[in-house]
Amino acid sequence: MAEAQARQRGGYADEVSAAAENGVRFEVDGEIATITLDRPEKRNAQTFATWSALARIGESLPEQVRVVVVKGEGPSFSAGIDLRMFTPEGVPGQGSFSSAATSDDATFEQRIRQAQAGFLWLRRPEIVSIAAVQGHAIGAGFQLALACDLRIVADDVSFCMKEPALGLVPDLTGTKPLVELVGLAKAIDICLTARTVHADEAMRIGLAEQVVVGGDLDQAVRDKVAQLLAVNRDAAVATKRLLQGAQGRTLEEQSVAEGLEQAARIKALFG
Ligand code: ACO
Repeated sequence: MAEAQARQRGGYADEVSAAAENGVRFEVDGEIATITLDRPEKRNAQTFATWSALARIGESLPEQVRVVVVKGEGPSFSAGIDLRMFTPEGVPGQGSFSSAATSDDATFEQRIRQAQAGFLWLRRPEIVSIAAVQGHAIGAGFQLALACDLRIVADDVSFCMKEPALGLVPDLTGTKPLVELVGLAKAIDICLTARTVHADEAMRIGLAEQVVVGGDLDQAVRDKVAQLLAVNRDAAVATKRLLQGAQGRTLEEQSVAEGLEQAARIKALFG
C-alpha cells in the first residue's frame, strides 16, 4: 500500500513536468485534479503529444482523486488537431498525415488506439470528469469535451465536429457519447454538416449540463465539484457504474445489477 502510494506520488510528479512540456498543465488538489490545455496562443491545438500527456495523466492519477476538471487556457477550449498535421512537414517529432498514410495497418491502428487512450480514461467509474468549455471546441476539442462525463459551458461556446469537412471521421472516441447525448439524427446533422452548435442549442439538445456567463465558468465548475464531493465516495462510484451499464442491459438485468451494488453498499455501511 505504502509502496503503491509512493509509486503514485513519483508518477504524479513526473507527469506534471512531462505534461507541461507538451502544453498540458496538470494539478492535483486533494480529491480534485485539473487538466489545462495550455497553448492559448495556438488556441490549444492538440497533437499526438497532447494525447500521450493525457493518457499518462490517466495512468498516474493519484488514487484520492474523485473529480477531474478539463479546461483550456485563453479564449478557446481547443481549436482541435494541430493543422500542421495536414502539411507535408507535419508537427516536428510527431509526423504528419502524409507520413501516417504510409504506415502499415497495424502501426496505424496502434497509433490511433494510443491517441484514444488519452480520452477513454475520463469515463472511469472512480472519477467524475467535467469539461469546462469556453469559446471554440472544434474537432478534437469537441471530442475532448465529449470524453468527459459533464460539460459546463460559457455562453460564447461553439462546438463544431469539423472532421468530415476535412475528409476525416471523428476518431477520438467522440461519436458514441455524441449519439448517446443528442440521438442519432441530431448527431448526423451536427457531424455531416460540420455546423456550429452554440450555447443555447447545446443546452437544449443535452450537450451541455449548464450554460453560464463567460466570467462565471470557473465558479460554476467549483460549485459543481463541491456538490459532487459532498456525496459518499463509494456510493458515487457504484452509482456511476450502474448508470454507465444501464443502456447495455435490459430492465431485468439492470434491476439485478442494482440489487448487487446495493447489497455491497449495505454490507459496507452496516455489516
Ligand atoms: N492548429 C494549429 N494552429 C492553430 C489552430 C489549429 N487547429 N487553430 C488556431 N491556430 C493558431 C492560428 O494559426 C494562429 O496562429 P498565429 O498567431 O501563429 O497565426 C493562432 O492559433 C490564433 O488563431 P486565430 O485564427 O487568429 O484565432 P481566432 O480566435 O480568430 O480563431 C479559430 C480561432 C476559429 C479556432 C480558428 O483559429 C480556426 O478555425 N482554427 C482551425 C480549426 C480547425 O479546423 N481545427 C481542426 C479540426 S479537425 C480535428 O480536430 C481532427
